[in-house]
Amino acid sequence: MSNVVVIGAQWGDEGKGKIVDLLSPSAQVVVRFHGGNNAGHTVIADGEKYALHLIPSGILHKDCLCLIGNGVVMDPQVFCEEMDALMLRGVDTGPDRLKISYKTHIIMPYHKLLDQAREAMRAGAKIGTTGRGIGPCYEDKAARIGVRAGDFLQPDLLRRKIARALEEKNALLTGLYGQKALSVDEVFGEIRPYAERLSVYLEDVSTAIGDAWKAGKSVMFEGAQGVHLDIDHGTYPFVTSSNAVTANALTGSGVYNANLGRIIGIAKAYCTRVGSGPFPTELLDDLGETIRRKGAEFGVTTGRARRCGWHDSVVLRESARLCGLTEIALTKLDVLSGLKELKIAKAYEYKGKIVDFPPQLEGALDDVTPVYETLPGWDEDITGAKSWEDLPENARLYVRRLEELCGVPVVMVSVGPDREQTIVRAHG
Ligand code: GDP
Ligand code: IMO
Ligand code: MG
Repeated sequence: MSNVVVIGAQWGDEGKGKIVDLLSPSAQVVVRFHGGNNAGHTVIADGEKYALHLIPSGILHKDCLCLIGNGVVMDPQVFCEEMDALMLRGVDTGPDRLKISYKTHIIMPYHKLLDQAREAMRAGAKIGTTGRGIGPCYEDKAARIGVRAGDFLQPDLLRRKIARALEEKNALLTGLYGQKALSVDEVFGEIRPYAERLSVYLEDVSTAIGDAWKAGKSVMFEGAQGVHLDIDHGTYPFVTSSNAVTANALTGSGVYNANLGRIIGIAKAYCTRVGSGPFPTELLDDLGETIRRKGAEFGVTTGRARRCGWHDSVVLRESARLCGLTEIALTKLDVLSGLKELKIAKAYEYKGKIVDFPPQLEGALDDVTPVYETLPGWDEDITGAKSWEDLPENARLYVRRLEELCGVPVVMVSVGPDREQTIVRAHG
């Protein structure tokens, strides 16, 4: 069976949740392989809106097995709250269909405190993190002092790990950040009820995927964030703390030859970004505000206003190169309706030269000037379009030019947030 990876091809919030939900019926397993509840994936089905942070976006399909891979960092409280909220709405989140890798790292209370304290101290140089403890949790993983979900079954080990971590965390919290020290009892007491509840959800996710393949099932790997927030390949240091590229779908879920038939990059018809960092095509004028308002560009996780700008083919080309994108699902095309003309950045000017890919030096993106191409807009409301032919000629022209510039076919065009508002395009 061939499998699918869904990757955010810009700076996150491209509409991954919608597309994963849409494609879930064709995969029997959906696995999240990185990130944590910094993610906010929106699924709108039958007029009902679901904001998912940790639970895979396949959860609304009752035959879909949802897995949390080893590459994820998980806040157990948020996970339990998300399960409860879904259960109240009639979605089954029992341990038969939702599983957590023994190796998934756990976001502890001190990770959240450190994330927020560090950002507060950065004053003018904030990354603009979500404050959910993501960075500090991945730091502990790399420092080999992290707590993992499997530790929920070994309370003595869990306690010892907390004590070990607090030796350093308390020195930082009190010495550097002027906060009070945490006690081992306090942290252990906070985690314990979640540890007990979640212990029945633990699974060897790597083996579960292998078993699914043996049974002839297909797997969808659900990315979070976006390629340009990737810790290695993104706009460092204004990035998240995990790898968002295709390769991490394998590492982050414990498989090797995943037979990836489709590597789908999700991209908005324009660009957005939350938090700090370079954004060459950003629109700081009224037009940016218009797009923000029409696109309801406010974060699902923190409610922050998203920065908005023109479509950037340099960004998308780089994502295609880094991830081997076989296709693009283009979202929010409807938001651009009514604009007289549209711009697409086709290259950058950097130090007097035209470049097709982002320059590699840190900070270089602050010094590029986008080279724009201008295309005519369209006035029609396209939210009811059902087929490629239903789209106005100029909308089709825009999509065609965009795929030409990034070199990857656009196979899906999304014209509204609902499952139904998706055009699947025949190629050839
Ligand atoms: P994700 O993090 O990539 O899953 O994306 P988010 O859920 O954070 O943000 C995407 C937002 O756009 C959500 O509010 C979606 O409901 C909405 N959305 C997705 N596709 C479309 C579309 O084609 N048109 C419009 N207007 N909204 C969309
Ligand atoms: P989804 O999966 C958009 C951004 C934050 C900040 C930077 C680092 O919904 O697309 P972190 O808390 O991860 O240390 O913050 O990354 N960020 C996102 N931006 N969508 C996301 O997820 C994001 N997850 C993190 O705003 O700039
Ligand atoms: Mg999001």
